[in-house]
Amino acid sequence: MERTLAIIKPDGVARGLIGEVIRRLEKEGLNILAIKMIWMTKKQAKGFYKVHAGKPFYESVTDFMSSGPCVVMVLEGEDGINAYRKLMGATNYKEAAKGTIRHDYATDIEKNVVHGSDSPQSAAFEIAYFFNELEIFRE
Ligand code: CMP
Repeated sequence: MERTLAIIKPDGVARGLIGEVIRRLEKEGLNILAIKMIWMTKKQAKGFYKVHAGKPFYESVTDFMSSGPCVVMVLEGEDGINAYRKLMGATNYKEAAKGTIRHDYATDIEKNVVHGSDSPQSAAFEIAYFFNELEIFRE
């Protein structure tokens, strides 16, 4: 079993896609171990995306991520990181496979509805960025 950090981004929340994203990940066998709605400050968004500091889209994506509320979740499942990445589809929605969340709902490369950790290292950093151990459900 592997944990990953998932975010429904401000565009997904504003467009009423919270239920649709959760429906898809539950159907895929990903369990929600923690969930909350947050509104990041610009500084918090910059800290979250610090691996992208200096890239051309860093200012813009951190403006976007602090423009409205997000839903953040800790997911767990078999091969959880890859399973959720498959469900999301490619970052660029134009390259996302049919039936993926980004193929079906993203409107541009930035407003791509969802985020997911891309490695065990980033999952550990990203989960700890939003949740402490007491907030994460365990059997
Ligand atoms: P995400 O998976 O959250 O990781 C970084 C985010 O930056 C990405 O999704 C997009 O929302 C945004 N972004 C904007 N432009 C680009 C780009 N050219 N390459 C990667 N990510 C981008």
